[in-house]
Amino acid sequence: MPELVRFSISLEKDLLESFDQLVDERGLSNRSEAVRDLIRQEFVKKEWDEGKEVAGAVTLIYDHHQRDLVNKLMNMQHDYSEVILSSQHVHLDHHHCLEIVAVKGKASRVRMLAEQLKGAKGVAHGTLSMTTTGHTASRALHAHP
Ligand code: NI
Repeated sequence: MPELVRFSISLEKDLLESFDQLVDERGLSNRSEAVRDLIRQEFVKKEWDEGKEVAGAVTLIYDHHQRDLVNKLMNMQHDYSEVILSSQHVHLDHHHCLEIVAVKGKASRVRMLAEQLKGAKGVAHGTLSMTTTGHTASRALHAHP
């Protein structure tokens, strides 16, 4: 287990009260855990901002009856095959499909793919969930006491 270092933070009383509320709402066990989460998030964001190698998932909801959409989405994914790890297709109901595309690669390239997929006509909703490959933030990520 990595060595834990204790440090103190000064902040406004109001801000601390709001923070404690957030900790509570998120079901985190204490302030330290919440601060660690925030720090990890910043490392992940930094990797994405710097265009480093990142990992994530693109989630799409669409109507497969929309003309040409399934083909279009398939073609896009072939164009970006070097950043796609896997994809999973779930038939939600008669009309709707859920597609989850696991991605890993240069942040800019992953973002471009996500924008294209989300922007395709007939896609009802799409999200890009961004995480890290764990290299840069590994110390922060693995510091679970
Ligand atoms: Ni389907």
